[in-house]
This record gives sequence, structure tokens and C-alpha cells, in this order.
Amino acid sequence: MVTLLENPLRIGLQQERTPDPQILVIFGASGDLTQRKLVPSLYQLKQERRLAPETAIVGVARRDWSHDYFREQMREGIEQFSTGIGLEEVWQDFAEGLYYCSGNMNEPESYQKLKAFLQELDEKRGTRGNRVFYLAVSPKFFKPGLRQLGAAGLLDDSAKTRVVIEKPFGKDLGSAKSLNRAVREVCKEEQVYRIDHYLGKETVQNILVFRFANAIFEPLWNRQFVDHVQITVAETVGVEDRAGYYDTSGALRDMVQNHLMQLLAITAMDPPNSLDADSIRNEKVKVLQAMRLADINNLDCSAIRGQYSSGWMKGKPVPGYREESGVNSESTTPTFVAMKLLVDNWRWKGVPFYLRTGKRLPKKVTEIAIQFKEVPLLIFKSVAQQTSPNVLTMRIQPNEGISLRFEAKMPGPDLRTRSVDMDFSYGSSFGMATADAYNRLLLDCILGDQTLFTRADEVEEAWRVVTPALTVWDAPADPATVPQYEAGTWQPTEAEFLMNRDGRRWRRL
Ligand code: BG6
Repeated sequence: MVTLLENPLRIGLQQERTPDPQILVIFGASGDLTQRKLVPSLYQLKQERRLAPETAIVGVARRDWSHDYFREQMREGIEQFSTGIGLEEVWQDFAEGLYYCSGNMNEPESYQKLKAFLQELDEKRGTRGNRVFYLAVSPKFFKPGLRQLGAAGLLDDSAKTRVVIEKPFGKDLGSAKSLNRAVREVCKEEQVYRIDHYLGKETVQNILVFRFANAIFEPLWNRQFVDHVQITVAETVGVEDRAGYYDTSGALRDMVQNHLMQLLAITAMDPPNSLDADSIRNEKVKVLQAMRLADINNLDCSAIRGQYSSGWMKGKPVPGYREESGVNSESTTPTFVAMKLLVDNWRWKGVPFYLRTGKRLPKKVTEIAIQFKEVPLLIFKSVAQQTSPNVLTMRIQPNEGISLRFEAKMPGPDLRTRSVDMDFSYGSSFGMATADAYNRLLLDCILGDQTLFTRADEVEEAWRVVTPALTVWDAPADPATVPQYEAGTWQPTEAEFLMNRDGRRWRRL
């Protein structure tokens, strides 16, 4: 019989967990994230009866809103960005637990007012002092917010209070360390939930299950059998209305340091000893510690940046990055990054990990492809010039699933081979759509499960890995030196060279 602890399917993925009554305090309540993601996700959790009935949500922002106006705004968000209100009684019940408390994140009085209000709610709803403080605000408010929460004594009870910090966690290694210090001054690491929404994706959690709940793949998962790994996170969208943030951030900070590093760490980590949050995070940190750019002395051989120029998307003309509204016309901010990384440990020594991510690429697709080595001897030489190596592809989104490519004999009297795919698809196997990452992450915060959140040392290691590229790319440069790629095409030619030089090429997706 398989016990709960022995069954890896329960890796921090325990079902039917019952949360304690909580108050969720959302700083940045008038912002986009709250209306589009956080409250719609909480409402879905409510509809699925995953929240304790006493649960309350308190929105905090500077605007002078009433509880009712906040409720209306949140209702609109749910109607627009989620599956809708459904049963009116469920909404009424949820809305009764929605409150608004205006406040300024820099002013101590606002926290005193909030504290008194939360105590009042504890009495009224029976939330027993349990609180999650969610910082859904601009990063410049992270430190003052943490300090003020600490000074007001709102984080004193480490068993009952948690704080959620949205991305970006720092803008380089120095600022991430300084933010971690600010965190440590006011609370314990067990109270901190650093968000990387990629960890909330079902398909990302499934990498752990696929690797460690199946016996046949793990023996192949190393330098003896793997030729290289390719991780692609491609987006079709451009900078949209986020130029203010994006032009000071760029693809390396916005995507690589967090989402792609996490995908890589989960793909490359060793099996954890147990399933608790720290065992898993210890293994991820070890991989990040062993990771480096392939050639630190020659950045062009390990990191390529690019920027989209004007082009065509779905038959419509789109502007280039520097022509987007709010973007500096001489900007050198990368909208595309490709990297070659090495992991210096026994499992992976010498196996390159190629990463690429970009905006305005032809397709929205996130996948991890493990390409195995060629067969040692091609005995079918007389009939096949060449066979293709086996590739295992984990499709993170869309069309979520996993496929294994192998060679097969084509039907007929001649011995001819062709590559075919063995395919698993979430849709057809489970018959249900995967939930939004925020549903899962919010539920885990409420339950006090840190498995899917990044720890201080993980974030710092990920920053360390990208620092050599950041240092060069942040320096003032002639805009003409930034490689361009036409919107709607895959990458700048420099990124092709990154792989071609090793006798490999990017997958065609
Ligand atoms: C966010 C980035 O973290 O992830 C965005 O800030 C990006 O720029 C987004 O578009 C991509 O997330 P997803 O889940 O759509 O792949």
C-alpha cells in the first residue's frame, strides 16, 4: 500500500486541505493585478469551497473607496476576467467578506488604522488573528511596506501571519540581497511567500511528478544520455501598456531571472529526500549554485539580446519596440534573450542548457525539450542518411502535455524510418482545463505551504547567474549594437549562431 508520504503525487499537491479562517490583506487593491487575477482567483476558490467560510479580504489602497465601491469593482473584475459570478448567493456571501481600508503605504498611521480594523474583523468573523499580507504593489513599496508592517507589530506572530511579495524581487543581485535583508528584519523566512507564477502552473508541478513518480526516465536524465536541453518561453504580445516598467526591466529581468531559471532548476534538480518545501527548494538551490553562463569571458558565446522591430502579427502591421508608446526611441532594453548555460555538477557536467524568451515571436508557446544523444552507430545507413535523436518535450502551455519523439519503420516493403511522437495531452487524458496559477498559489499561502514559492537563497542565486549579462547590457551602448528581429519572426540571427556554433539548432515550433 502506498502511504500519503510515500506517494510523490502528493508533492505539496495535497488535495482536500482545509484552510484556517484568514484575513487576506491586499495592498494595491485598486490595481490591475487585484482586479484581474487575485480576487477572481479567490472567488473561484470560494466557488470550489476551498476557503473557510469566515475568510475575509481587505483591500488597501490610497483611493478613498467605500466597501461597496470596492465590491462593485471586484465584481466587474470577476465578470470580465474569470468564469463569471455563477450563483448569486455565492457572490453575496463572498461580497460580505470583502472590505476596503484606505491607506498610504508610507504612513505609520495607515497601519495603525488597518491593525484596528483587522482586530475588529477578527471579532466579527472569527478569523483568529490569522493574516496574509499580499504586497501587490510597485516594487518601490516593498521595503517601506515591510518596515511599516513590522513596526506596527503586524508580523510579530510568525505562526499566524504571512507576507506575499510579488515580482520583481529586486532588479539585480545587490537589490535582491538588500530586499531580503529588509524581509529578515521584520519576519522569519517561514512567513515569506515570494511569487513566481510559473510555479503555480499545473504543468510545471507535473515536471516533478513526471520525473520522480516514474521509474523509467530518471536513469536517462543526465550527461550520459542527454545531449542538451532547450527551454523556450515565447510570447506573441509586445510591451502592451507596460512600457514604464518594461523599458527599465527587459526580458532578462522580466522572464529569465525568474520564470526560466525556475523551469531550468526543476528540470535539472536531483530528487529531493522528502516532499516538504525545504527539501525541494534545497535541491533547486543546489542546481542554481552549480549554474553559470557558458563563457563568462565572451558574452557573445553565451548570451544574446534582441529587440523586436516593426513587422506583422496575425496579418496586421505592428510597431517596433522603440516605436511603442512610452518606450525611449534609443532604448537598448532587450525584448528577447537567448542564453547558453552550464550546470557544473556530476549529473550535468558538459550538457548545455539553451534558454530563449521573447516578445512578438510568432507563437505563444512554453516548452522544455530534452534532446537525447544520437544512436552510437547507425546500422540503417544504407536506408537512412540520418535518424533524428529522441526528444522528450514537456509542453507547459498551450496544448499542455508531454511527447516523446522516436524513430519508427515506415510501413511498406522497404526499410525506411521516420520520426513519430508518443503523446500525452492534459485535455484528453483528464478532460479538464488546468486552473489559473494564482488559484493554486493563493490557496497555498492560505494553507501555509511554501513549496511553490522561491526562497531567499534561490532568488539570489538566480540573480548571480544572470549578473554578467546584466552588467554588460545595462551599460550605456549605441542602440545600433542591439540585434533586431522583425516582429512575428523567431529570433535575431545572432541567437541562431549561439546554437549553430555548437552544431545544434533551435527547435522549430
Ligand atoms: C510576467 C511578465 O511575469 O509573465 C510578463 O512580467 C509576461 O511580461 C508574463 O508576459 C508571461 O506569463 P504567462 O503565464 O502568460 O506565460
